Amino acid sequence: MTIDAFVFDAYGTLYDVQSVSKITNEEFPDHGELITQVWRMKQLEYTWLRSMMGSYRSFWEITEASLIYTLNAIGVSSDKTVRDRIMDKYLHLDPHSDCLTALDALQGVPLAILSNGNQEILDALVTNTGLDTKLQSIISIDKAGIFKPHDDAYALVETTLNVKPENTVFVSSNAFDACAAKNFGFQVAWIERVTRDALAAEIAAAEVVGPSTMFKLLRMQMENFDMEPDHRLTSLNELADLIEQPSRMATQETLDA
Ligand code: LAC
Repeated sequence: MTIDAFVFDAYGTLYDVQSVSKITNEEFPDHGELITQVWRMKQLEYTWLRSMMGSYRSFWEITEASLIYTLNAIGVSSDKTVRDRIMDKYLHLDPHSDCLTALDALQGVPLAILSNGNQEILDALVTNTGLDTKLQSIISIDKAGIFKPHDDAYALVETTLNVKPENTVFVSSNAFDACAAKNFGFQVAWIERVTRDALAAEIAAAEVVGPSTMFKLLRMQMENFDMEPDHRLTSLNELADLIEQPSRMATQETLDA
């Protein structure tokens, strides 16, 4: 199939949202893990709830509101300085270990981000981590005023890049995002960062299922919808094979002829 562009989700796909644990553990040594997981789950939930209520707020505001929710719910007190330090990590998230090599291997094809992040924080994150030199376009759903998984958010890809959804590979490790992108009409590559077998082994070995395992159970497994991604990959590095596949197949056909 024709591939005119690769469009990536940001948080969880190119960037490791779990990397906030460095700072949550530093600020709250007794609860870092719980804060990291509840915060991310609540942040996503707030994007969905606000979209349904038609009361859009920027991703930055939602990220802050969900952090405050989490700290209050756990019952730890925090001042604004501490919260600002934690929030700042969202402007300096660690890229996943496969991010740079994968983007390098795909150079030559237009590469973009489509993220729930607002433009300002996405631009800051991408510049702070050096990805601005590897990506042609950073698209924020801000312009649509509604979050993924709403169709209006995915529609920004065509209007911004002038590429058809069926000729675009949308890449996400967020299963809800992969399903919705498939529903919208993209070719979809789901990055299965935690395989079912690895998760089953983790659960079997655990005395008590902790917050990180709960996160993997709720947010990192394929959803039970009637929307299957076209490709299930375990690393971003496998994306380059999607470009090479047609030529390999052509070579095989030539050999067979
Ligand atoms: C994003 C969220 C879904 O980057 O992680 O859009």
